[in-house]
Amino acid sequence: MSDSYAVFGNPIAQSKSPAIHRHFCEQTGEDMTYTKQLVAEGEFQTAADAFFADGGRGLNITSPFKLDAFQYADRRTPRAERAGAVNLLIKENDGSITGDTSDGVGMVNDMLNMGWELGGKKLLILGAGGAVRGVLEPLLGQQPANLTIANRTLAKAEQLVKDFHDLGELKACSFDDLAGRQFDVIINGTSAGLHGERVNLPANLLAPDSACYDMSYAAEPTGFLCWAEREGCKQLSDGLGMLVGQAAESFYAWRHIRPEVVPVITELRRKMTESKKKAS
Ligand code: ATR
Repeated sequence: MSDSYAVFGNPIAQSKSPAIHRHFCEQTGEDMTYTKQLVAEGEFQTAADAFFADGGRGLNITSPFKLDAFQYADRRTPRAERAGAVNLLIKENDGSITGDTSDGVGMVNDMLNMGWELGGKKLLILGAGGAVRGVLEPLLGQQPANLTIANRTLAKAEQLVKDFHDLGELKACSFDDLAGRQFDVIINGTSAGLHGERVNLPANLLAPDSACYDMSYAAEPTGFLCWAEREGCKQLSDGLGMLVGQAAESFYAWRHIRPEVVPVITELRRKMTESKKKAS
């Protein structure tokens, strides 16, 4: 019987992870199954116990269970400890469960694959929730000149600065405090767009040749990317490549083979555009 993997979340119907791992298996010839499982709130532990007792080898975890997965793991990687969340569980040969986080490295690899430079650059990240906490360590690992965290609730950005200040030059501020400053790379890590809301940003934040990245993705440009385009930004990306990148890291952790991400991103993008055209 082939090894089995799954993604747990709620909701989960929209998850692209099974399709991504199917592409990885086709590329690499690995024999495994990967399914998506809707887990009721409060039922994470029961569902994970049942999955692993049934022979499951690994899980991806999406909203709202990343903290449950953090607690579930018998041990966690240092980067998962810092991120305070786990999106990847690995069943070791001794039966114990390791928790890791692959979101941040997925995002940074996506930027590097697109040829974006982060080293020595001025970075701005919008938001200070769980998603942003998860990407700070790998971002700072690229040794930017500095990284500013701007958030609606300033205290949350200040807390992140406290927790990560040993890894690089970090500052917290409110959105209004951004006026008059310029950045080389701006990353949207707020959930504003998901609620149909917009972050109100001052004009002229973009340095020449800057790049803008939205950690969320959609069939059409997100509100943040539309703002960036209006501000004259030429290098824009949503977070589809981050999703595929975190999946590739998971696949590597489980199967010890690194799949190619670019053809998978291209294929998913093609399908998303196609289904949007059909719907309109
Ligand atoms: P996630 O796991 O996606 O990071 P989260 O931890 O709830 O979710 O964090 C959501 C982030 O989006 C927070 O930084 C939040 O700002 P606050 O800390 O002030 O709540 C930010 N956010 C959500 N809606 C927003 C909006 N309309 N404008 C600006 N920021 C918003």
